[in-house]
Amino acid sequence: MSDHVSRVPAATAPVVVAIDGPAGAGKSTVGRAVARRLGLEYLDTGAMYRAVTYGALRRGVPVHDDGAVAELVAALTIEIDHDGVRVDGVDATTAIRGREVTESVSAIAANSAVRAELVARQRAWVHERGGGVLEGRDIGTVVFPDATAKLFVTATPRVRAERRVAEMGGDVDEVEAAIVERDRKDSTRADSPLVEADGAIVIDTSEMGIDEVVDRIVADVQRRSSEGVA
Ligand code: CDP
Repeated sequence: MSDHVSRVPAATAPVVVAIDGPAGAGKSTVGRAVARRLGLEYLDTGAMYRAVTYGALRRGVPVHDDGAVAELVAALTIEIDHDGVRVDGVDATTAIRGREVTESVSAIAANSAVRAELVARQRAWVHERGGGVLEGRDIGTVVFPDATAKLFVTATPRVRAERRVAEMGGDVDEVEAAIVERDRKDSTRADSPLVEADGAIVIDTSEMGIDEVVDRIVADVQRRSSEGVA
């Protein structure tokens, strides 16, 4: 886009793939597969917001107390790797997906101190690795607006609810209502709302198979990195 970026030889430019979209759109499945195909590491940034929520609940910090949560996040250790998620050394892999965390995560994600801290950690993660695939709500808009490729992965609320129920169980109508409400909060918050990034490719996975979605993204990333498009 800028003169500076277009002069950088494509081979040395770090490849960053930004995948955003609403709850349950298939971002994790797609993101992991894209990372594998491109030989990059993958970061689920939603797990980081969930980890902070878990830390607050575990320590009895009220999730709406912005000051107390800001203090908590500054000192919180979050480790995410192939073994799972640990918060201050405690295994939280299963708990961060549970109902309690899911119901409180929007309040934590609306806290600007939490966002600033996690965005800094996400950028450091990419710099340490020289690239990566990141999935979340604000990757293409805030964290890496100059990403090699920006994808907005979505699907109808019904399809998203059905997928979530297939993974986690529950009642489809209830799960649909809960994800529509979480999307509303994510899309209307003041700090880094969920919106399509400028230049993002919108992929509706409602009627597309995972392989087709992954093929499209990989082809797009390869085209952009060989053209040096940022
Ligand atoms: O997996 P699911 O789609 O249910 O959500 P997630 O990716 O685990 O993210 C959980 C919550 O974290 C979202 O509803 C957002 O409130 C927040 N989040 C965020 O604000 N920014 C991100 N980059 C990632 C997640």
